[in-house]
Amino acid sequence: MRRIPAFYWLIVLLLASFSPSLFAQEDLLPTDYLGKDFYAGRRAALRAGMPDSSVAVFFAYPTRNFSNDVDYLYHPNPDMYYFSGYKEPHSLLLVFKEPRTDSAGISYTEILFVQKRNAQAEQWTGKRMGVEGAREKLGIDHVYNGEAFKNYSVDFSAFKKIIVDKLPADVANGYDKADLYDLLEQFRQKSGYAANNTGRFDNRLYYELTGKLRRIKTPDEMALLRKAVEISCQAHTEVMKAIHPGMSELEIQGLQEYVHKKLGAEGVGYGSIVGSGENGCVLHYMENTKTRIGNSLLLMDVGAEYHGYTADVTRTVPADGKFSPEEKAIYELVYQAQEAAFKTLRNGARFADASNAARETIAEGLVKLGIIQDKKEVNKYYPHGLGHHIGLDVHDRGGMETLLKDMVITIEPGIYIPSNSNCDKKWWGIAVRIEDDLLITENGYEILSRLAPRKAEDVEKMISQKSALDDFKLVLPEPGGKKAF
Ligand code: GLY
Ligand code: MN
Ligand code: MN
Repeated sequence: MRRIPAFYWLIVLLLASFSPSLFAQEDLLPTDYLGKDFYAGRRAALRAGMPDSSVAVFFAYPTRNFSNDVDYLYHPNPDMYYFSGYKEPHSLLLVFKEPRTDSAGISYTEILFVQKRNAQAEQWTGKRMGVEGAREKLGIDHVYNGEAFKNYSVDFSAFKKIIVDKLPADVANGYDKADLYDLLEQFRQKSGYAANNTGRFDNRLYYELTGKLRRIKTPDEMALLRKAVEISCQAHTEVMKAIHPGMSELEIQGLQEYVHKKLGAEGVGYGSIVGSGENGCVLHYMENTKTRIGNSLLLMDVGAEYHGYTADVTRTVPADGKFSPEEKAIYELVYQAQEAAFKTLRNGARFADASNAARETIAEGLVKLGIIQDKKEVNKYYPHGLGHHIGLDVHDRGGMETLLKDMVITIEPGIYIPSNSNCDKKWWGIAVRIEDDLLITENGYEILSRLAPRKAEDVEKMISQKSALDDFKLVLPEPGGKKAF
């Protein structure tokens, strides 16, 4: 057999280098996750705000039991995710204000304890990042398995401040001797932590520091948050096109969440709220069990979570395609309240001004419609606040007093008139919330959720559009033969 000259090998290698799939099996995972530079930047910003002689402590969220030996799908602690990128349970991150020196004389300011790799466990619940993976992917040098925390030498009494959230008191003691239960227990012992500790164990400072950072979105975060909002709007729009009175609340929820997943969002940022008629009056209605939405209004408060970042979008639509005069009057009032609030938004504005503008609009409108006699009664039909930050939490961290550039907030006025309310019967059962997600800019705002129709006429127009789902029929086997749904 003839030897292949080295020159040919060189060409093959060169060609192969343009096609990574020849060498490594592609994992086909999304490619737009936040990178290790983002997390390193967040830790640096945190340290810059920490007082002298302090340590910030972040525990993973506990896993939670769903049924018997089945757990809920795990959701990471947003703070742990924000400062490290680590998404697994049973872990602990410490960030030190002053650099420390390890036994090899290497200086460090952060240390992460992760759950240990375990082939058997990974066969059941999926691959773990482990020490090596965390070092490589998260860019933290000092990473150890959780079991190393027990003998990790740190004198917590030497810190003036231990910046830590309230510790969960109901974590189960599992078989693993380095699970969250053990990490918490060892932390309590090492630090002398007790639930009623004040002063040195500072959870007010924890909220202040993390809130100050998390409420201002970086460009990297904005890319993901925009995507979450955009996907949510696409889902709302598709549902508007497909909606008809014969659908059920669960079916609408399924359709919303199908579009999220089709477009790459891993889940929802909160339980989807799909309430027809009177059900819309329950602010966080999540049962969604009404079997026929009928001709009434349908309130859909549904937001996708994309790589940890969640949207929060509400649209209220007439299931039969046309607002009745009463529905339209209430809808217009909520719309005007939103518009009044929008006008106040900009860098440096007081959120209270937006809240007052919306509440005043609704109060005046309800008096005009004869639904209330005195503006002071407004809270009866508008019983919640105007908005909140969004981000890694749907109700994201950070104060709302003064709005700043690069904050992302919701503006979500609503009017809810349950049956037997003290007003003309014709209003009973009408519930409207319109909720948009807005980026605060230097001189105003950007409505990130503008893709989903909001004006009454635009909503009606969208409902009249054809949907790909109009001709979609599920033909399922039934005991008595096949039946089309
Ligand atoms: N989806 C919950 C809220 O609007 O605050
Ligand atoms: Mn909201
Ligand atoms: Mn909402």
